Amino acid sequence: MTDGALRRYHAPVWNEPVVSELGRRGERGIFVPSTENGIRKAVGPARTLVPKGMRRRVPPRLPELSQPQVLRHFLRLSQSVLGMDLNIDLGEGTCTMKHSPKVHEEVLRRIAEVHPLQDPETIQGLLEILYEFGHTFLREISGLDAFSFQPGGGSEAVYTNACILRKHLERRGELETRNEIITTIFSHPCDAASPATAGFKIVTLYPDERMGRPTTEALKAAVSKHTAGLFITNPEDTGIFNTEIDEWTRIVHEAGGLCAYDQANANAILGVTRAREAGFDMGFFNLHKTFSSPHGSDGPACGAVGVTRELERYLPVPVVTFDGSKYRLEYDRPDSIGKVRDFLGSVPVVVRAYAWALSLGADGLRQVAETSMLNNRYLEKKILAIPGVGKPYAVDARVDQIRYSWQKLKDETGVGTEDIERRMVDYGIQSYFLSHHPWVVPEPFTPEPCETYSKADIDYWATVLRQVAAEAYADPQTVKSAPHRSSISKMDPAPFDDPARWAMTWRAFLRKRGAGERARGTAGPRGP
Ligand SMILES: Cc1ncc(COP(=O)(O)O)c(C=O)c1O
Repeated sequence: MTDGALRRYHAPVWNEPVVSELGRRGERGIFVPSTENGIRKAVGPARTLVPKGMRRRVPPRLPELSQPQVLRHFLRLSQSVLGMDLNIDLGEGTCTMKHSPKVHEEVLRRIAEVHPLQDPETIQGLLEILYEFGHTFLREISGLDAFSFQPGGGSEAVYTNACILRKHLERRGELETRNEIITTIFSHPCDAASPATAGFKIVTLYPDERMGRPTTEALKAAVSKHTAGLFITNPEDTGIFNTEIDEWTRIVHEAGGLCAYDQANANAILGVTRAREAGFDMGFFNLHKTFSSPHGSDGPACGAVGVTRELERYLPVPVVTFDGSKYRLEYDRPDSIGKVRDFLGSVPVVVRAYAWALSLGADGLRQVAETSMLNNRYLEKKILAIPGVGKPYAVDARVDQIRYSWQKLKDETGVGTEDIERRMVDYGIQSYFLSHHPWVVPEPFTPEPCETYSKADIDYWATVLRQVAAEAYADPQTVKSAPHRSSISKMDPAPFDDPARWAMTWRAFLRKRGAGERARGTAGPRGP
């Protein structure tokens, strides 16, 4: 694919009902054989193994479908979206959508049968991977001493950092007085939300108009005897790297606080800068972003928490230890913050990350950083040549991503960033990431062309963006009413604000629909 040649794209439209509306009573995907007499005699009826108070009185109303129906349903759904492996997914800035090598799935097959309660003696190889990845790889990359892979994502890792800080303050008898966390508005929102969930008050610093980040003077004014810590992303979501970060951590330490580094935007600084030299006491990497594992957020993901030797005793349990001959799972750690996740956390994510780092080596990781920075610079040149785009703040050099603005385009055409991202889908490109809220940058969008994407990919993505911007000037209505070639059309957002019209569960939906139909006098049995 070369610059200038746009592909034709059209998503399939299956009009697929939700799974609860498919199938028929009695339909089955699998018939479970009844229990053999010998087992029944030895164990008794399975029902009696479940405590009385937990037994259902009526069976759950699960969908009843055959295997082909289930397969068809999920394949159709998978065709209705533009996934990471289907499109040039470089628009999802702050998410680092990179290729996850498929050969790693083969490695994973070998641990697929491991039971979470298996005796550690029988999973020494797996424990070695967990131990080595923390003690050798991430330690070298960050300079932090000890790691835990328990948290199931970045926000949970920040929560773990906040719990470690809370425990540390509690041990020092300072929890009552030190209760403020300082963060910045362009750090990820979880750097405020997670400490707030752990009981801290949040002080948010806003950017200086010229620098695009808060000044060091603003930090000095914010610290006090109430400062518990600094929770900060660097580079921030604007792609701006705070070059005075070591001064920031010094100021916070001097005020008596600790510093937690959100390194989820670490792609372009791997092997370049380290948390320890920057003065941080703890932090985390998102293995599902920077280290190639597929995303999963707080589901199948992993926020790898790292701490200095002084904070190691607070890490969540179990901690993988090695005595020179055996790997163990240590639970008996009196100062630990306890458990943040069941069993060993999302182990497959760690194994993929380990395989990825091992396949690249130290030089390869550094090359990842350099390539992603180069790609960002190249895309920047292409984007800034498109009419209507702006790059807020005077800071020229950005690291892994840039938060641009369509404000000029909006003023000139009425077409905003949400219209542009929907229209991109009509060209087979996943809608891009705008910004977390509040939008400090007006009409924002934040691409991140990490090392995965080739020059041709970047050229194509920029060509689509240029095409859509040109359409905004020539035919704004087409862009405003997009998408036109996707599996769904533009949605009316009004119902999102009306609790009577949305539901979080199928049961709640049926209840609300039933109430609506009763009110209209149309209630009655529905066909399969
Ligand atoms: C800088 C930063 N910190 C934290 C997070 C939160 O990670 P997660 O979505 O895994 O909770 C993200 C998400 O991508 C992020 O970009």
